[in-house]
Amino acid sequence: MTEPAPPHAPPLQQSVLAARQNLFSTMLDAMTDGVMVVDDKMRVVVTNRALREILLLPPGSHGRPLNQVVRQAGLDEAFAQVLSGEGTRNLEFVHRGLQDRVLDVLVVPLPDHEHWGHRALGVVRDVTERRQLDRMLMDFIANASHELRTPTTAILGYAETLVDAAPKDPQVLAGFHQTIYRHAQRLSTLLAQLLELCRLDDETYRMHFEAVDLESVLAVVVEQLADMASESGLSLQVSTSPQLGRVWADRGALEIVFANLLQNAIKYTPPGGGRIEVRMRPEGTSRVQVSVIDSGIGISAEDQLRIFERFYRVDRGRSRHMGGVGLGLSIVKQLVDHLGGAIEVSSQVGRGSTFSVVLTLAEAEGRGPAKAL
Ligand SMILES: Nc1ncnc2c1ncn2[C@@H]1O[C@H](COP(=O)(O)OP(=O)(O)O)[C@@H](O)[C@H]1O
Ligand SMILES: [Mg+2]
Repeated sequence: MTEPAPPHAPPLQQSVLAARQNLFSTMLDAMTDGVMVVDDKMRVVVTNRALREILLLPPGSHGRPLNQVVRQAGLDEAFAQVLSGEGTRNLEFVHRGLQDRVLDVLVVPLPDHEHWGHRALGVVRDVTERRQLDRMLMDFIANASHELRTPTTAILGYAETLVDAAPKDPQVLAGFHQTIYRHAQRLSTLLAQLLELCRLDDETYRMHFEAVDLESVLAVVVEQLADMASESGLSLQVSTSPQLGRVWADRGALEIVFANLLQNAIKYTPPGGGRIEVRMRPEGTSRVQVSVIDSGIGISAEDQLRIFERFYRVDRGRSRHMGGVGLGLSIVKQLVDHLGGAIEVSSQVGRGSTFSVVLTLAEAEGRGPAKAL
């Protein structure tokens, strides 16, 4: 929406002006930044499409006072200052509309014109997403630093005592060593998970897809976790379904996914809590659902919505004690997404949880026959 050519121009000049005007408004409307021009009476005289979309302006905003079009005292003030010859202004504010948007506005004076007089141009950029990303990054750094500090402080403290005055009692000494070992393990897990997240976030990250025998993946993972399970008096049972073939996936990613799910099942099931099961069943003709089922502490409906977020833990104290930092499921979710699969949880507090992963069969991808029976 731009204004018409001045009425007093001769006909030929009129048509040139109109063409120029057309070009000008097409260019303005093609811009992704919002643009507005305000005159010396503080009225909005030009807007482009992006501005009208960002501010959800109703038709007929032209010629109206700026403070009625956008109710933002700071913006009014910035235009007033620029119009009174105070150079340029840059400001950021939250525009309250259907959804709050963070807007960055640059206000610059326009050259004076005998026909128009004084005017100022405002370039409005919607920086909501950028600010959200900034905040997420800061939260992530704060969380990661906090998680790194706890084990580091513990290791330093115990190591210092060992150097200065090692306890004579062999039992106490062994306790110190164990504590240092436990915290070092925690550090190592955290760093491995952070590296995995960086790898996943990297735009050049690619999975190595091949036909993978799920049973062999699960066998490797169960073997890795057998000691952890038996220390808790739990048994791990994998029930495979013979008619299910191989999946089209990245073997390393599958190992990380199921290791995390099984580890959680063990961690969040009280000792002696019976059996943890992995079951498979076909889903349609081209997919398979693999479920990790425990009869542990369970997860409330509210928490189920958040457990896939980075650093989210239902019970911080308990999880930390068990060496968790709340990154496992976020990595699992990202890997399953990369695999083109899906993951869901169903759980009842005090009853147990089931995490189900849906994967594509290699056969469905035209990658070889189903596994021989
Ligand atoms: N099988 C489960 N049973 C109960 N709670 C679980 C289970 N798996 C995950 N959780 C909850 O989800 C949170 C996030 O899991 P995860 O990302 O793997 O982090 P953590 O490092 O704490 O294991 C855990 O802290 C726990 O509260
Ligand atoms: Mg975990």
